[in-house]
Amino acid sequence: MSPDAAQSDSEMKAIKRILDFEPKAEDFAGAVIAGLSSDPKSIPPKFFYDQRGSDIFNRICETEEYYVTRTEVALLAEIGPEVGQLAGAGVSVIEYGCGSSDKIRALLDALSSPAEYWAIDISRAHLLQSAGEIGLDYPDLSVNAVCADFTGGLELPEEMAGRRLAFFPGSTIGNQTPGEAEAFLTGVRGMVGDAGALLIGVDLIKDTDRLNRAYNDAAGHTADFNINLLCRMQVELGAELDLDGFRHRAFFNAEKSRIEMHLLSSRAQTIRVAGREFKFAEGETIHTENSYKYDIPGFAGLAGRAGFDVTKSWTDAEQLFAIHFLDAAPGAGG
Ligand SMILES: C[S@@+](CC[C@H](N)C(=O)[O-])C[C@H]1O[C@@H](n2cnc3c(N)ncnc32)[C@H](O)[C@@H]1O
Repeated sequence: MSPDAAQSDSEMKAIKRILDFEPKAEDFAGAVIAGLSSDPKSIPPKFFYDQRGSDIFNRICETEEYYVTRTEVALLAEIGPEVGQLAGAGVSVIEYGCGSSDKIRALLDALSSPAEYWAIDISRAHLLQSAGEIGLDYPDLSVNAVCADFTGGLELPEEMAGRRLAFFPGSTIGNQTPGEAEAFLTGVRGMVGDAGALLIGVDLIKDTDRLNRAYNDAAGHTADFNINLLCRMQVELGAELDLDGFRHRAFFNAEKSRIEMHLLSSRAQTIRVAGREFKFAEGETIHTENSYKYDIPGFAGLAGRAGFDVTKSWTDAEQLFAIHFLDAAPGAGG
């Protein structure tokens, strides 16, 4: 069944516009070949999110260890009235990496008469389902879906109703290096314009044990999520490899203030992908994800360099997670 066929008619009809810039299979093949040819080996985390990867991510969000989702959802509900005041009425919301579009509900409920919702995600089937559900549940909102890699020069319509409010939850910004994050946020600043704003969720630096547990849940969902990248290579690229030859490894690198996720080769082996051979020594890894953690001043500095002023930052009582409301700094352009 095609992804669209899996959608109900009513969900599809509830989406006003679909802009389709879905990355092609060659992009995945090219990134895997380039990444496995480099030293150390790596594959960008955006390739985790096929339909199965997105489903597994949702299971991670429900684990006791992964505090990120429930903490951000609770904080959003608590600060909703204040965010509604800061954003003003009749805004257009643009969400980067919407996933199952759960968090947007808390934001939409807090806003006064939001005009448009633009949901952006690389995972097409997941995006259409999420956007369709929002369209059905918010009939007065113009709901639009954009399937695209948001790191690759996204084109959104010039015309949108009201002020633009970008929304980037889930600490997905942490997947980019600080340099990449600054360039990305500079692009967001250009997109929202001089009157715009960004509401962004950012995971905080904390106790190393707590961080390590969050990326090594006892049920093994994070391990499945990581290994699913190899499954995706088998299914989409015909990769010849033994899944049992790799193990999930995740740890906090304090010097770089980031969780690193790797696929560790448990023995010396050779795998084949797209007609190419790649050799692994025992213990060698494919670096699959970084998740940078920031303190409040550190993130404010990054946002400032990207052309945003921090209007307000909130954290939960345990200081696990932060949400920042950033206004476009006057004249910062982007
Ligand atoms: C960590 S999940 C967060 C999902 C959701 N926003 C949340 O807060 O729970 C990252 C989401 O961003 C999407 N994503 C990751 N990299 C992307 C990229 N380069 N372009 C577009 N979407 C991307 C994934 O498909 C996934 O839905």
